[in-house]
Amino acid sequence: MAVKKVWFVTGCSKGLGKALVEELLKQGYSVAGTSRDKKNLERIFGAESEKFLPLSMNIRDESSVKEAIRLATEKFGRIDVAVNNAGFTHLATVEEMSDSDVREEFDINVFGMLSVIRNILPQMRMQGHGHIFNVSSLGAYNVGPLSGIYCATKHAVKAISETLAQEVRQFGIHVTDVKPGFMRTEFFGSSYKTTAPEDSPYKSLYDENMKFYMGQDGNQAGDPHKAARLYIKVAKMDQPYESLPMGTDSCDGIRNICENTAKLMNDMRSIAETTNY
Ligand SMILES: NC(=O)c1ccc[n+]([C@@H]2O[C@H](COP(=O)([O-])OP(=O)(O)OC[C@H]3O[C@@H](n4cnc5c(N)ncnc54)[C@H](OP(=O)(O)O)[C@@H]3O)[C@@H](O)[C@H]2O)c1
Repeated sequence: MAVKKVWFVTGCSKGLGKALVEELLKQGYSVAGTSRDKKNLERIFGAESEKFLPLSMNIRDESSVKEAIRLATEKFGRIDVAVNNAGFTHLATVEEMSDSDVREEFDINVFGMLSVIRNILPQMRMQGHGHIFNVSSLGAYNVGPLSGIYCATKHAVKAISETLAQEVRQFGIHVTDVKPGFMRTEFFGSSYKTTAPEDSPYKSLYDENMKFYMGQDGNQAGDPHKAARLYIKVAKMDQPYESLPMGTDSCDGIRNICENTAKLMNDMRSIAETTNY
């Protein structure tokens, strides 16, 4: 019987991370799950056990990330699969989002992921195998009012994932960029933040777009448990997908954007040509 892989998953107290840990434990995998506060994990999954290690991790603090990876490796002997799942959206216009709010969102969605990658790769290279899932989004292609900074973070995640895949392939390490569409999680529930000043000149954009996003909450087409089972299936593949859309809204949305981009580039080709030597 094949040895069951050891998983390390960030942001597990809710949504996709929670569903993934539930499914992994059900299927008998060893899992180190992180949360801002491990008490949240103990409440959901129970105390530390032979197969489960709940970890408090501050994703904005590299020493905390390092320590979480150290503790997981100490307990299970190795980490085979890492899932950079923790992330959130701060819904605000580009102009009205403060510098510290922008930096917070990049810290959690991008720099936190990089911190996990930096600290987990040395042991994966030494093992000669490993698999990193980075959760980007349909928003790695799509953009829309109030989501500019969130989409910028997810564009960054996708670019980093695609580059990393090329760099670490030589060491037997796989990278999958996961692109969920709308998933029924706490994303537009308890997790999102917003800045909507009363006197905003963008009031009509807030009204329209917040109504749309809040209307998504609880009605998203994507099932986190089905997503969890897809993660596990992809992790078993000899040559796992490097780009993994989840949900037809994601797949169709990305395809439409790419088709529109191809058309635009055809239309612009003669203009682009004018700057060549
Ligand atoms: N749901 C969607 O429609 C959708 C679509 C595309 C991409 N995604 C991406 O999927 C990933 C998982 O999101 P989800 O939908 O499962 O949302 P969720 O239910 O809100 O769960 C997000 C997890 O990320 C962590 N997190 C949230 N806000 C955080 C913050 N301010 N600081 C630190 N950690 C924070 C939380 O970890 P702890 O509370 O345990 O610390 C939480 O468990 C995210 O990267 C998200 O961007 C979601």
